[in-house]
Amino acid sequence: MWVTKEVVQEQGQQEQSSSNTTLFHVLDPRVFKRQLLDNLCGLATRVRMLAKSPAGAKLLQDLALNRRAMLYFTQPSTRTFLSFNNACHILGIRTSEIRDRSISSEVKGESFEDAIRTFSSYVDVIIMRSQEPGRAAQAARIMDSIERPVPIIDAGSGSEQHPTQALLDIYTLDRSFSQRGGIDGKVIGMMGDLRRGRTVRSLCYLMRSYTNVRLIFIAPKNFSMRDDVKTHLNEQEIAFVETDCLSEVLPELDALYVTRMQSEWDQEGESNDIDLSQYTVGKKQLAMLKPNGIIMHPLPRGPEIDPIVDADPRAMYWRQERNGMWMRVAILLKLLQLEESVS
Ligand code: CP
Repeated sequence: MWVTKEVVQEQGQQEQSSSNTTLFHVLDPRVFKRQLLDNLCGLATRVRMLAKSPAGAKLLQDLALNRRAMLYFTQPSTRTFLSFNNACHILGIRTSEIRDRSISSEVKGESFEDAIRTFSSYVDVIIMRSQEPGRAAQAARIMDSIERPVPIIDAGSGSEQHPTQALLDIYTLDRSFSQRGGIDGKVIGMMGDLRRGRTVRSLCYLMRSYTNVRLIFIAPKNFSMRDDVKTHLNEQEIAFVETDCLSEVLPELDALYVTRMQSEWDQEGESNDIDLSQYTVGKKQLAMLKPNGIIMHPLPRGPEIDPIVDADPRAMYWRQERNGMWMRVAILLKLLQLEESVS
């Protein structure tokens, strides 16, 4: 969620639609509206075009030279960490990081509240990933209670939300369908461990900005999409169906968003009980996918996408990964109110 400084106490209720709104924390995707999503996608594309020339890259590099960011990633990450780190560097933002609480003073008993407040003494934005759900929102509340708050960006919290991944997924869908009327009217399949997949959960919350999108959830019964997301979709009148059979629905999909089993959340090795062959993409599934359909995956992948798929032009996940860095540059520009510098 983007929250203005003025309305920060009412985070859950706010909706951001204007591209000119002053933005603050990025926590919950539910309040994004179409104008802001389009604005961010356009900004990401403008920036990546600009960066292609030495003069453009220099302009970007000089935009935020006096700004600093904290990357507080206490849950493992490769691409979210690296893409945010590099997005900062593209804009000249200097970065600090803590990736393990055991090397911070939290190990000496410092509270989470004091740790976050301490980070904010040194930097202009805190980007954080945590094992525990709601940690970024908690950090935002701490910021909202102090004299010099800095924005908090949720880079993945528990199995609940991953808002910036959802934004880069929208950017990927938007680019992929740019010659086919955009995301409106598309049929999007989401497959795998939907119960514990924070990327697909966050993406569902952004779908209300698009008209006539139809979602198809493809998951083993014990790993189906949770009721909170389904209730939201019903409230927003977004059509969805559920199935455990990929082959029945694959031919009608414009996009298939594949996810891995999130076995890190297993209580008793329940991921091992699933016949994953039912939820994989390989040569046979490629033959059933529309010629202009796309395959997405937030990565990292497990066995659910055969590496043979990588060479198919419909495989979008490596581009999705690169799109992530540019979308995160756009997010930072927006947050630091530097958007006009690249218009
Ligand atoms: N997609 C994603 O969040 O990847 P990482 O866990 O590697 O950051």
